[in-house]
Amino acid sequence: MAHGVQFPAGFLWGAATSAYQIEGSPLADGAGPSIWQRFAHTPGMMRNGDTGDVACDHYRRWREDVALMRELGLQAYRFSVSWSRVLPEGRGRPNAAGLDFYERLVDALLENGIEPLVTLFHWDLPAALDDRGGWLNPDIAYWFAEYATLLFRRLDGRVKKWATLNEPWVVTDGGYLHGALAPGHRNRFEAPIASHHLLRAHGAAVHAYRGNGRHAIGIVVNLEPKYPASSSADDLAATRRADAYMNRQYLDPIYFGRYPEELAEIFGEAWPAWPAADFDLIRQPIDFLGVNYYTRSVVRHDADAWPLRAAAVKQHATYTETGWEVYPQGLTDTLLWVRERYGNPPVYITENGAAFYDPPVAENGAIEDPLRVQYQKKHLAAVADAIARGCDVRGYMAWSLLDNLEWSLGYSKRFGIVHVDFATQQRTIKASGRHYAQVIASNGDSLNRA
Ligand code: BGC
Repeated sequence: MAHGVQFPAGFLWGAATSAYQIEGSPLADGAGPSIWQRFAHTPGMMRNGDTGDVACDHYRRWREDVALMRELGLQAYRFSVSWSRVLPEGRGRPNAAGLDFYERLVDALLENGIEPLVTLFHWDLPAALDDRGGWLNPDIAYWFAEYATLLFRRLDGRVKKWATLNEPWVVTDGGYLHGALAPGHRNRFEAPIASHHLLRAHGAAVHAYRGNGRHAIGIVVNLEPKYPASSSADDLAATRRADAYMNRQYLDPIYFGRYPEELAEIFGEAWPAWPAADFDLIRQPIDFLGVNYYTRSVVRHDADAWPLRAAAVKQHATYTETGWEVYPQGLTDTLLWVRERYGNPPVYITENGAAFYDPPVAENGAIEDPLRVQYQKKHLAAVADAIARGCDVRGYMAWSLLDNLEWSLGYSKRFGIVHVDFATQQRTIKASGRHYAQVIASNGDSLNRA
């Protein structure tokens, strides 16, 4: 690159978290249980029996955490609202203490010059709604829109960027198809239904926003580019299926008003005929797209792999502690693909980061995490490359601000740019956090000096 790494003026630098992963106190002050509260307390579901009961204790330490964000120089903070904290039964009677918590957090962020990016749903569905079928009940689109409206009315204006859902693919693949995540179902018939109602709920919330909000709303998806292991017809077809399932299942309906045709082939008799009118609801114009990027996969045909008939092939490469290949080029490729396929929408990278083993805190208080620093540098260069090639990328949120509960893997994986000692709740900025602070302060220019 002739001019090195460059980011446009006004590029938004931040870090991200989600409610159940950091807050703790899940039932405090009138909050209702979520499906993650239930799942975590079901024996055998979580590594080491970990739960989100305490997590990073952010519900009580949020002031300290905002100070930490300021110390890092963050310009934005992406967090999620716990639906059952503000609506203990998922609908109906709001919990004033829950709403106050998020309002105080937003105000503290603004006082510190940090823009809040709010995600309405990051997987912690109210348990009371799961009792009524959760994402399998068509009414959830209206329940979600009501919940969203409550927050729009309270916080829009102070919050100028909203995301409806975080990673609907993970919700259905982990929660309804393979069962590794809450609510832990394994059912090929349920997965497409849950996906469809997630999309309808997204559309209903966007629609509600147009009546109640004045700024920007979008959705966050995880994109993982799929590359064929060979040019055989079987491998190419398997790659198309994997891509349709993970990358196009949600974006095609939102941008084009239809599902990718491969989904009917993948789900077979479990693929329903959808009412055409649903796509009018789903296909609402959105103001930005949130992209979470971690890795790629190289795909080969595998007749035994259910239901995709596609399997990932290991590479000779660096893998993170979650077993994900480090592949920065995939982020550039993904952003170029979004530009081409969906008409160059404004994009925020809403998550990017890596779990690596962290050494203990050194005597001088430092935590050296060179692999995470490398990951960060290379992925930021990949973003800059995409921008230089015309992608409208407007910001980057590191995942994650804090080491936190990595869902069913518990506290065994650390993604933070800030280390959390879970015994004492002591926070320590890692070398990657210090590195990121320099990137922010120089709008990316420090990457050219490394
Ligand atoms: C999720 C986060 C998660 C991260 C790392 C994303 O799928 O949005 O909640 O911790 O990836 O697995």
